[in-house]
Amino acid sequence: MPVCFDAASGVLSLHTDHTTYQLAIRHRGLLLHTWYGPRVTDDMSYAIPYADRGFSGNPADAEDDRTVSCDTLPQEYPCEGSGDFRATAFGLRDQGGVSGCDLRYVGHRVLPGKYTLPRLPAVFAEEGEAETVEITLQDLRLPVQVRLLYGVLPGMDCITRSAVITNRGDAPVTLENAASLCLDFLHGEFDRIAFWGKHSLERQAERRPVGHGEEVFGSRRGASSHHMNPFLVLCDRDATEDSGLALGCALMWSGSFSARVGLDAFGQTRLTMGIQNERFNYLLQPGESFTAPEAVMVLSEQGLGEMSRRFHRLILGHVLRFPRPDMPRPVLINNWEATYMDFTGDKIVEIARQAAGLGVDMMVLDDGWFGRRSSDHDGLGDWWVNEEKLGCSLPRLAERIRRLGMKFGLWIEPEMVNRPSDLAREHPDWIFTIPGKPPVTSRDQLVLDFSRPDVVDAILERLDRIITEARVDYIKMDMNRSLNDVYTQADFQSQGKVLYRYTLGVYRFLQALRDRHPDLLIEGCSGGGGRFDLGMLYFTPQIWCSDDTDPIERLKIQYGTSFCYPPCVMGAHVSVSPSEQTGRVTPLSVRGAVAMAGTFGYELDPARLSPEEKEEVRQQIRTFRRYQPLMLQGDYYRLTDNMADREKAAWMFVSPDKSEALVTWVTRDAHDNPAAQFVTCRGLDPEALYRDEATGEARTGAALMRMGLLIPRSKGEYTARQIHLLRV
Ligand code: GLA
Repeated sequence: MPVCFDAASGVLSLHTDHTTYQLAIRHRGLLLHTWYGPRVTDDMSYAIPYADRGFSGNPADAEDDRTVSCDTLPQEYPCEGSGDFRATAFGLRDQGGVSGCDLRYVGHRVLPGKYTLPRLPAVFAEEGEAETVEITLQDLRLPVQVRLLYGVLPGMDCITRSAVITNRGDAPVTLENAASLCLDFLHGEFDRIAFWGKHSLERQAERRPVGHGEEVFGSRRGASSHHMNPFLVLCDRDATEDSGLALGCALMWSGSFSARVGLDAFGQTRLTMGIQNERFNYLLQPGESFTAPEAVMVLSEQGLGEMSRRFHRLILGHVLRFPRPDMPRPVLINNWEATYMDFTGDKIVEIARQAAGLGVDMMVLDDGWFGRRSSDHDGLGDWWVNEEKLGCSLPRLAERIRRLGMKFGLWIEPEMVNRPSDLAREHPDWIFTIPGKPPVTSRDQLVLDFSRPDVVDAILERLDRIITEARVDYIKMDMNRSLNDVYTQADFQSQGKVLYRYTLGVYRFLQALRDRHPDLLIEGCSGGGGRFDLGMLYFTPQIWCSDDTDPIERLKIQYGTSFCYPPCVMGAHVSVSPSEQTGRVTPLSVRGAVAMAGTFGYELDPARLSPEEKEEVRQQIRTFRRYQPLMLQGDYYRLTDNMADREKAAWMFVSPDKSEALVTWVTRDAHDNPAAQFVTCRGLDPEALYRDEATGEARTGAALMRMGLLIPRSKGEYTARQIHLLRV
């Protein structure tokens, strides 16, 4: 039974195959958190240390018991005003501006299946794969109810959380904080791994001990952002890829967010995660509800590697809705780095023709095909095809490309507008600007008010017509600035809701595209990987990982990304050398091997490749197609710490039955008279014998996972090898 409630002790346990999450109802409805960790059958509330601690107050109904304090007891959904002075999950203000609440348990129910969230993405599960727990809390003062939702997916070792807050009174209240999760740990010394970044260098894994005080991670940018990914790991101080407790928490939300981690004075660690509460004042009218985005938790006792693999399986089976996880994705060519906005229709067809000859499946036409868009200063928002530039209509161009045996993809950026555009002139009220304040521009863009369904629908209609007429197979949906001057002209009372509603507007747009074009493959993008999160993945099954396509930079970017997200959702292309971004010179083999740990494609002008390079590209595509099933269905193992290891980077895919594996390594440095270099494998069957397909040498899984593969010495700064191992 995944969910067990012991009425006598008031203990509610949520079990997955290998983990347990436990709560206890205590002291007139205080909802305490007793455990999240490896599976246990005990009532873990025995471990709660009751103590009378100075300056930690007691709720009125604790009467004379000074050991009951929300400030020291582990809380499930702590609220501001209850006497808990740590980071809280919930806070609101009444009409008079008075804040302070105290939520108490009033009941719970267990429902079959996994709950869904209205208008929000959420982990889904087939019947029999999940259960839902719904716990109702009531504020002691105001007629406000909170329903805490838990999804339990036993086979995935995943617990999800959300909260629905409803104003059941007859006066409005203002929500100021509504986190998706709070986790209290009674003891333990943890490290946290956060994934910081910037444009062109996303998701850099940074591991530090959790210390006293509070660390805040998040984004205020209106998007989940390049700067901090909405994914955080808490792990044992000595956790490695293969051992130790590792807990990953991901927020299924593509807007601003916030996460806090801190150790209190009594050795307890608290983690909270949810929407960003700065610039959030959500006016809840009588009868109105607010839904917090879903937080997704996955825990493993077998280290960071297994935590990641559990996340990967969860995402492939329970977050991505299309295509089926095992369906091969097209190898594409994108013209961005080949031409930027300087192209004609003939040039695009010529790129496609050359690429088709190399074995590429799809041509993606990037920015610059619409309006008067000749640079990033103008034209954005004008969704009419620039036939003069293309020399023909878009359906005609698409037809020319299809005749080459290729599919056709198109870049769009629906949320944005340039000031020099027809759209900005015709609909100034559709643009976020604060009356009386000149707006902050970024890439010369302003942001459309996607909190308004009418604006979303108008842009959708324009783009839908183009997508339908040209029978577009694939969309790259971009978003190239952070949000500022967030002010809606539609609903003057609701400025504190706009950022939340904006993200719902993006989801509304994507869902409508999916409904109208069920076979359309959509790639998410935000100046590279500036909106790389579970919320987007629910709609866009792959996301452009970074605008930096230098393979050596990508080693760190894709490594950090892999902690939560599976390789087959990471947009990765082979581009030219020297790199357009860094100027670094790398061999084509290295660029190919690194892009194959992602969606794989090309972002260059094939006409500029030498005959030898063209042959190498043909071979790369054959190699990718051969290994794609293994990469889609197999388990991914990180073999090196790409943040620390300056010498090499390595990873591998192992088939579910362990009969086949693909090891990739890249050397990152060159020395004379070097020490021998090894790559130690993971995930193989130690008893089985594996043959290296290229050399014919056979070794046991045990040898490959202990001694490892000896990296042959090769000259040159960067080299790459792919080793295909087959069980004998
Ligand atoms: C963003 C994307 C790029 C490209 C440009 C076009 O930067 O990440 O891949 O599409 O926009 O303007």
